[in-house]
Amino acid sequence: MKFETKYVRYKKLVDDYLQEFIVEKKPASIYQPIRYVLAGGGKRIRPVLVLLSCEAVGGRGKDALHAAAGIEVLHNFTLVHDDIMDNAASRRGRATVHTKWDQNVAILVGDELLAFAYRALLKTRSPRIQEIAKIFTEGVVEVCEGQGYDKEFETSLAVKVKDYLLMIRKKTGKMVTVATEIGGLIGGANAKELRALSKYGQHVGRAFQLQDDLLDIIGDEKKFGKTVGGDIVEGKKTFLLLEALRRATGRDRQLLLSIFRNKGAAKESVGEVRDIYHRTGAIQATMRRVKQDITRANNELHHLRPTPARAMLFWFTEMLLHRSY
Ligand code: IPE
Ligand code: IPE
Ligand code: MG
Ligand code: MG
Ligand code: MG
Repeated sequence: MKFETKYVRYKKLVDDYLQEFIVEKKPASIYQPIRYVLAGGGKRIRPVLVLLSCEAVGGRGKDALHAAAGIEVLHNFTLVHDDIMDNAASRRGRATVHTKWDQNVAILVGDELLAFAYRALLKTRSPRIQEIAKIFTEGVVEVCEGQGYDKEFETSLAVKVKDYLLMIRKKTGKMVTVATEIGGLIGGANAKELRALSKYGQHVGRAFQLQDDLLDIIGDEKKFGKTVGGDIVEGKKTFLLLEALRRATGRDRQLLLSIFRNKGAAKESVGEVRDIYHRTGAIQATMRRVKQDITRANNELHHLRPTPARAMLFWFTEMLLHRSY
């Protein structure tokens, strides 16, 4: 079976689970938006990684389905709150919860999704459930810290590449390692396999956020499903901005500095900033880093025995590199 077809099947497992998962209906003011969020699609990357990591160490994917869904629900919680924090109007090609409803609804929806994430996760039957719940919980802590840095950096003049890398390791990378580690634990991974899966997740997670930052500026808004240029408007200290600033001179540098200092820019400047990112080679540099991390991720997979799930993980990493949404 082709990998694409398999991916669609794994994704459907997760989508179906989420469709059935919430039985509550009232108050409608909260369950309508919750259903809206969970039915919104998305790539389901984290849950698919849970299932594949489980299978890659000899486990059965279906034993990891509760945990996979739990991680996806947790991820959706972070997105709902992230969209408030980033003033984002669209996600997955639709209006965000706080714009379609309002901010209070979005806060509450996020809170309840966090509880639902645990509801799903804790259905997992595994002798290592305590370890699994601990990894999951520490994941939530780190995502919050990462999101804290992300906001703090908007108004900081001292952000360096190493700060950016710490921030994305926490806000994005961590949940990817949580996915691979939990999948591995449910599948009965030994210490060596668990280490390889964890490192694979670290590299994939970093490449993934770099790629997200890249798509935020050069993506096709229709496919991407989010407003292109949002990071510039919000004054996000992305790798692209830091790298372009390091390379730019003259007027280009002045414009970037004004974004850096003024916590963002007008929507009208996005095109010009995009040109600067191209001109300075910041786009190319980011692409190179993404490729580098993808190679590192794949190198970790060599520590796992050859299985169809491992073959699919190799494909999955490449797919992430070429994604447009
Ligand atoms: C978006 O995550 C948030 C980031 C960490 C970049 P995804 O790109 O996985 O979003 P969906 O779930 O596929 O919509
Ligand atoms: C979000 O990063 C990471 C999360 C923990 C949700 P972004 O703010 O770049 O994600 P998008 O672009 O809104 O999906
Ligand atoms: Mg954000
Ligand atoms: Mg955002
Ligand atoms: Mg983004």
